[in-house]
Amino acid sequence: MGFQYHSIISGMGKYLPDRVVTNDDLSKMFDTNDEWITERTGIKERRWVKYGEEYTSTMGTEAARRAIEDAQLEADDIDFVVFATLTPDYPFPGCGVMVQKNLGLRNVGALDVRNQCAGFIYALSIADQFIKTGMYKNILVVGAETQSNVMQKTNEGRDMAVIFGDGAAAAVVSATEDLNRGILTSNMHSEGAYAEELALQEPSNRHEFRIEGNPELTGAKQWPYMNGRNVFKHAVTRMPESVMEALGETNLKTDDIDLLIPHQANLRIAEFVKQKLGLNDDQVFNNIQKYGNTTAASIPIALCEAKEKGLVKQGDLVCLTAFGSGFVWGATLIRW
Ligand code: ACO
Repeated sequence: MGFQYHSIISGMGKYLPDRVVTNDDLSKMFDTNDEWITERTGIKERRWVKYGEEYTSTMGTEAARRAIEDAQLEADDIDFVVFATLTPDYPFPGCGVMVQKNLGLRNVGALDVRNQCAGFIYALSIADQFIKTGMYKNILVVGAETQSNVMQKTNEGRDMAVIFGDGAAAAVVSATEDLNRGILTSNMHSEGAYAEELALQEPSNRHEFRIEGNPELTGAKQWPYMNGRNVFKHAVTRMPESVMEALGETNLKTDDIDLLIPHQANLRIAEFVKQKLGLNDDQVFNNIQKYGNTTAASIPIALCEAKEKGLVKQGDLVCLTAFGSGFVWGATLIRW
């Protein structure tokens, strides 16, 4: 399709809480150990918020502020906000309006995206559509999560509690008339048949009483549930599939990828994705070892860090792919 504009990422920023939680720290809270966690997930440490002081909205705000500065823009230049998270401060309203308030943005639209680990891919694709059609010039896309307040830090919840971490990152998506650059293609998929395979169900609006009198609230459903093996199986199939779809759309090959940033779900999952695509180590960026799985924030945190390390240069072909609760998945190809 012929568009007058393409979407480039003109600025990025990330925010990770200072509090480092190592595998040994977790082993003091419940029965686990560094060897188990490292072998199965690759994670050595993660960040947790300073409890009661930092939230999804405040981390997202700081990341967004840094991204706007990196893009050399002002708050007034932002035309729209897309905020991806599965751990918003409140059931409603979403975090997008909080970032708008905190940064003193104009009364622009703020949209919250609920697509879990694929949230950033979905959010970026939404921004891309508004840019391509010429509706907006600069869109703030944020991914942020506070997983530490949601995890069950006991033996019952340890399979998930060791995996997830807190953090935020943001991108400013801007219009360019250089049609050789920017987002080349995106795809988004979902399979609701697996909605309950990775989910947090309570407190639920299915009951008249969400808290008091809610028979489910003290049971297992108040904590997130993950069918780990099923998630693993689908993740290692869907991510390569969506990358191949994006390459097919653009007549490119896996060899053309300069850097693949897979959602930082689990290092073993990323390793499988790399192998299935026949990529070499230099073509894939991982930082889950330091931050754990930060869900909607994991791709932008990794992209921002790769950029800071000089691993993403103008002209590079960057591929993002994610899979998560829903199930939802997708991929984006960017000519940087
Ligand atoms: N520490 C120590 N032991 C643990 C822990 C822990 N944190 N968690 C579970 N165990 C125990 C289990 O209780 C079980 O004990 P048992 O044999 O006595 O019953 C044993 O370890 C093995 O448990 P399994 O669940 O069979 O372990 P598995 O090898 O399947 O690994 C894991 C579990 C790591 C969750 C794996 O299934 C996995 O990697 N799944 C992918 C899930 C994932 O990465 N999700 C990311 C989030 S979703 C996303 O971002 C897409």
